[in-house]
Amino acid sequence: MPLLEVKQMTHYFGGLRAVHDFNLSIEKGEIRGLIGPNGAGKSTIFNLITGIYRPTEGEVLLNGRNIVGLPPYKIAAMGLGRTFQNLRLWRHMTVLEHVKMARYSKLTYGLIGAFFDTRERRRQEAEAEEIARNLLDMLGVYDVADEKVTNLPYGMQRRVEMARALAVEPDILFLDEPTAGMNPEELTEMMAIIRQVHQEIGLAIFLIEHRMKFVMELCERIQTLVFGEVIAEGAPEEIQNNPKVIEAYLGAEVDT
Ligand SMILES: Nc1ncnc2c1ncn2[C@@H]1O[C@H](COP(=O)(O)OP(=O)(O)O)[C@@H](O)[C@H]1O
Ligand SMILES: [Mg+2]
Repeated sequence: MPLLEVKQMTHYFGGLRAVHDFNLSIEKGEIRGLIGPNGAGKSTIFNLITGIYRPTEGEVLLNGRNIVGLPPYKIAAMGLGRTFQNLRLWRHMTVLEHVKMARYSKLTYGLIGAFFDTRERRRQEAEAEEIARNLLDMLGVYDVADEKVTNLPYGMQRRVEMARALAVEPDILFLDEPTAGMNPEELTEMMAIIRQVHQEIGLAIFLIEHRMKFVMELCERIQTLVFGEVIAEGAPEEIQNNPKVIEAYLGAEVDT
């Protein structure tokens, strides 16, 4: 059974067909890429799978369970972590608070525990703190754990967002343009971090990226989306040499 399976997913925004007959099957531990020009429907696909929008048609199975119609926080708790194309961080929270906060969707001590200081509650809090600190360490932001995120450089904020997505201990991590707005140095760091996270946690990754080189180096398999339709799917070399892909990217950043 695949970890994540999407079958014949179609989505309309009013009269606009943003995604048409999208199919996907991701295995445990795989790194999968989704590329395509601006407005192709990539972020919409993420939003459909993660429960932000409900697909007009189609099925989404996570670990064999149909997740269509479930709210995003439930889908996250079932094993799907994500980041957003534009950073969504809370101005007044520290780095550590961000990551611990995300962990609370997993906490199960319930309403009673939330009011009374039960032993189980203390155990779960301690565990949340430990997991959060380990993640900050892995992503190279441990030293700034008590800083407000808005005080950090952009590249670090991106890493905090990734730590937060990992706090629920997902089986699969969705990254929507993790290098958007980054300088070359931050970009190299981000590639190393994604590799390290993949190696150490062993989770699957589904990556949207418009920088070809980045996606080609990281992904085992890539889908190319144009106007909501997959026009090509395969290993990086096949995608790179596919005339339809080259045409779709003409004038865009083919070699960056
Ligand atoms: N919430 C929305 N309402 C209406 N149209 C939307 C919405 N979100 C995205 N779209 C449209 O859907 C298409 C795909 O957008 P998007 O998924 O953001 O593309 P990509 O991430 O590939 O750049 C675009 O034409 C965009 O304008
Ligand atoms: Mg997008």
